[in-house]
Amino acid sequence: MKQCVKMIVGNWKMNGLASGLSEARAVSEALTAEPAAATVGLCPPTTLLDRMARALDGGPVQVGGQDCHAEASGAFTGSVSAAMLADAGARLVILGHSERRAGCGETDADVAAKVGAALQAGLEPIVCVGETLAEHEAGEAVAVVTRQIEGSLPEIPAGKDLAVAYEPVWAIGSGLTPTSDQIAEVHAAIRAALSRRLGEAATAVPILYGGSVNPANAADLLTIDGVDGALVGGASLKAEDFMAIIRAAGPGVAADAQG
Ligand code: 13P
Repeated sequence: MKQCVKMIVGNWKMNGLASGLSEARAVSEALTAEPAAATVGLCPPTTLLDRMARALDGGPVQVGGQDCHAEASGAFTGSVSAAMLADAGARLVILGHSERRAGCGETDADVAAKVGAALQAGLEPIVCVGETLAEHEAGEAVAVVTRQIEGSLPEIPAGKDLAVAYEPVWAIGSGLTPTSDQIAEVHAAIRAALSRRLGEAATAVPILYGGSVNPANAADLLTIDGVDGALVGGASLKAEDFMAIIRAAGPGVAADAQG
């Protein structure tokens, strides 16, 4: 049975000009010298995707998009398709981020259609779920993320890679994080929802935590039961901070020693 590999992914959001590519290069060089236990990805703005993919080609860092359209091509001014992301060198794509669910009105059904398109294009989707502060305070986190998982996944063909990120909306960019018990409870609920949906294949799906992950709290967050990695916003913009988080996932095994 395929087991899930730890994954640390940086989401640059709407940050980064060409000058920022040196940070991505620094991460790649550091990881080449010092392999990590986790798969590492960086998701820059679309304008940098092709350049970042070229700069990091052949290295240990995967590159990804932050969204895609559900259609492969057509009259959708301003949008980018999954096939275009893959063509630009992307291997990953973040979908259903709360900033798109809230800011762009994306529904679970919209996210499911995008996940289908991403899989079709050969990308690994990172599907984001998470409750708002009001839902958290009402004790609804498990119910909300369970509903989001059930609604945001299309049929997943066997053998396709998929990841999920639990990002409580109120923890993003706020410096706040849920307690370890709260994170463990939600991750267990996500794992159960994935198992109901995907059966045994669910064991291969890493469930990342996201929301104010930084070098100081990464080691604690990454050892919580059921946390298979992190989706990192602000702290992924600087190579030094991002590397500190990656190191918190533990040392890696040299590529030629992996089974
Ligand atoms: P921060 O790490 O800046 O809180 O952002 C988290 C996030 O939204 C990653 O997708």
